[in-house]
Amino acid sequence: MFNFDVVSGTVARKIIQESRSELVTVVKEAYLTHYAGSSVNPNSYFLRFPENPSARIIALPAYLGGEYDVAGIKWISSFPENIKNNVPRASAVLLLNDYATGYPFACLEASQISAARTAASAVLGAAQLLGRTNAERITVVGSGIIARNIIEFFAAEDWKVGEFAIVDHKAEYAELLAAHVRDELGYSASRFDDLPTAFDGADVIVLATTAPEPYIVEPGAFAPGQVVLNISLRDISPDLVLSSHNVVDDVDHCLTANTSPHLAEQQTGNRDFISGVLAQVIRGEVSLDAERPRIFSPFGLGVLDLAVGSYIHRRAVESGQTQAIDGFFGETERWGK
Ligand SMILES: NC(=O)c1ccc[n+]([C@@H]2O[C@H](COP(=O)([O-])OP(=O)(O)OC[C@H]3O[C@@H](n4cnc5c(N)ncnc54)[C@H](O)[C@@H]3O)[C@@H](O)[C@H]2O)c1
Repeated sequence: MFNFDVVSGTVARKIIQESRSELVTVVKEAYLTHYAGSSVNPNSYFLRFPENPSARIIALPAYLGGEYDVAGIKWISSFPENIKNNVPRASAVLLLNDYATGYPFACLEASQISAARTAASAVLGAAQLLGRTNAERITVVGSGIIARNIIEFFAAEDWKVGEFAIVDHKAEYAELLAAHVRDELGYSASRFDDLPTAFDGADVIVLATTAPEPYIVEPGAFAPGQVVLNISLRDISPDLVLSSHNVVDDVDHCLTANTSPHLAEQQTGNRDFISGVLAQVIRGEVSLDAERPRIFSPFGLGVLDLAVGSYIHRRAVESGQTQAIDGFFGETERWGK
């Protein structure tokens, strides 16, 4: 019980690349376990900096029961200015704690894990809300690491996609992602410069920007039946939210921190516009008509990090890729000899 392992991001990344499809199943099971009540997932805690308002570090503590029976916490920084120096926006660690003793037993680099669980949940949400795994066009707004991971998970889930339309307010970032999608994943992909043209004919729209407030505000910006993966959470006006079906990961979590659904709640004073959570859609408990767009807004739950982190840790142990820290705990008996 006094083992303590470190799993590097290099190892996590390699395991993720080999197991994206399994991770979609892991995320699906975690959502169902959370919905069944076998979890504790308190609110995320945001550390912000008055003199650097775009930056934040978020703590996501959680416990996940079911087959996992593990507690832990992800501590994830978001410094959006990093990308100007070609440094990833997000960096993170995940600590896993043994549920029987409380002892931490692993520390994993977690930006890879966080991106993977986010992408797995996005692609799971797309399949559930669209009801199929083929699309004439998937439009992706925001061309960062999360967008790239989501497209890689579409590929791993064997989606048939006519073309990816890639948008970014920095044209060069959209070009880089489009080239990656063409060269590494073999899909047709090109840069689009204006949203209405990119949205036209899209079966799925992925929002993965760092926009702090809504810029998609045109009434009717989304078509009936169109699936919108609202990953960056703050791009859409509350009026568009209110004229759509809304599926979230967890209602209490998602209606915080000025997300677009939270703005809609503030505008109306109620939560009637929420159709349900993704677990209910998976369970067939939510019916969505084709008259309105379908927006999936996953706030990002700590239980997903635990599920994916536990999976990565297990695979790393099995393949001898953990670094054990001998003597990590300085006192292993209550009364030392
Ligand atoms: N919901 C979740 O569970 C979850 C989990 C992880 C990350 N995220 C979110 O995903 C987003 C993307 O993360 P990332 O690591 O890829 O960031 P990133 O900084 O690498 O990429 C974001 C991209 O969006 C572009 N962009 C910003 N504002 C834009 C706008 N208004 N229109 C078009 N493009 C715009 C930037 O130029 C950049 O290329 C972040 O907002 C992050 O908070 C959500």
